[in-house]
Amino acid sequence: MMMAADQTVHGVPASLSAKVVGSYAYLTVRDRLPTILTKVIDTIHRNKNKFFEEYGEVGIQAEKQTISLLSKMRNELQTDKPVLALTDSLQDTECWNQYLQRQQKQQGDQESVSWFKSPWLYVECYMYRRVHEALWLNPPISDYDVFNEGKTQSFFESQQAVMTLCTYLEGVNKNMEELSKNQLLEHFNKLLQVSLWGNKCDLSISAGRDNSQKTSPIDSLNSLQPFILVNDSNMVWSTLISSQRQGQSEKTTAVRVDIVLDNAGFELVTDLVLADFLISSGLAHEVYFHGKSIPWFVSDVTANDFQWTIRQTMAANHKWMSKNGVQWKSHLKAGVWSYHDHPFWTQPNEFCDMADDAPDLYATLQGADLVLFKGDLNYRKLTGDRDWDHTVGFGTALRGFGPAPLCSLRTLKANVQVGLQPGQGEKLTSQDPDWMTSGKYGVIQFYSSNSEQKD
Ligand code: F6P
Ligand code: MG
Repeated sequence: MMMAADQTVHGVPASLSAKVVGSYAYLTVRDRLPTILTKVIDTIHRNKNKFFEEYGEVGIQAEKQTISLLSKMRNELQTDKPVLALTDSLQDTECWNQYLQRQQKQQGDQESVSWFKSPWLYVECYMYRRVHEALWLNPPISDYDVFNEGKTQSFFESQQAVMTLCTYLEGVNKNMEELSKNQLLEHFNKLLQVSLWGNKCDLSISAGRDNSQKTSPIDSLNSLQPFILVNDSNMVWSTLISSQRQGQSEKTTAVRVDIVLDNAGFELVTDLVLADFLISSGLAHEVYFHGKSIPWFVSDVTANDFQWTIRQTMAANHKWMSKNGVQWKSHLKAGVWSYHDHPFWTQPNEFCDMADDAPDLYATLQGADLVLFKGDLNYRKLTGDRDWDHTVGFGTALRGFGPAPLCSLRTLKANVQVGLQPGQGEKLTSQDPDWMTSGKYGVIQFYSSNSEQKD
């Protein structure tokens, strides 16, 4: 279906866009994205000597050329130039260029697809893909992860919180056999919420500034409770319990939970702790982690970050932390846990496109009993990053996406939120005008095509 990007068509509202002067999308494209690009350029420049030591003069040339491509892109962004086709020849280049044509078609021929006039979700994703292109075109630094320093730093800065969490997990695992069902449920809820609030710690909202977890993640849960705007954790729990029952009667299927990861650092640890608990409690028998195949949105998890985090946890000078690290490594070795990536996660598509545009990934997710989508960007893609009324049901906003029962664990950092009670959004706006973008509020929002929706 063709539709102009800024219109509601058949009840589907417009995409958020920097076109709306003063909007959060506008401020992001105008201020935050150039700041991120400047940091990327600084990081590459600061590492000039390292490139020289590793590769000699050719490393310095690559550094210069990469910086020149990135500066050019920053200029294109700041002067609202047309979005250009990608020129590398990676696995997903063709898809990106086709997507650009699709955008152009939707927008009509009068004006080019440009940074401020196109959907925010698209241009923001495109910026990270262009960063990747700039590096990729410049061997020998093609594989350099320009966000790596920030990600590792954020892990080290949350050490205290990580230790507290690992100690908590040890306490739970030690007494697992004696736990009543209610106690199990209580721990499940706590760890689900820890994983939710772990999503406060992303580096893209702070344009790369320190945003690590400093307080005890378990002790803060009670005071954070009022900030959970939608809490469907009971449905997540019943989905896991009923998957167990089905598994028992058919005596074949192991319960599988997929976690579509978001940020490295503290958030990733919260996800690993939750996944550990799911396995040790028997609520799940397998966990698939889905990460990014290229550096993405400053702090998102790549395969390298995933492995590095487990190695660091193992090597920690803290009894329970290193014990957990060893356990996680053995889960991976045994195939109880597995890490997956797919180029679709670093494309700009709304998830309702997945069945058509990445049918293999959609089929993989269909094999899960529950899919947990971490973070804000995943929520934007689940809902299409559109200007939905807050009371529209989550199921409606998903527009047919539903490979398996799914749950978003997301702190709000962009102005899209669905599934609220009538009046709830208005009340929040009057009390706290930044409620949708401050990262202070969160949702545990569930959808299953099998269950009655609250639409
Ligand atoms: O606006 C903040 C932002 O850059 C959004 O574009 C994006 O959705 C978010 O940060 C990233 O957050 P998260 O890491 O939770 O996906
Ligand atoms: Mg992120």
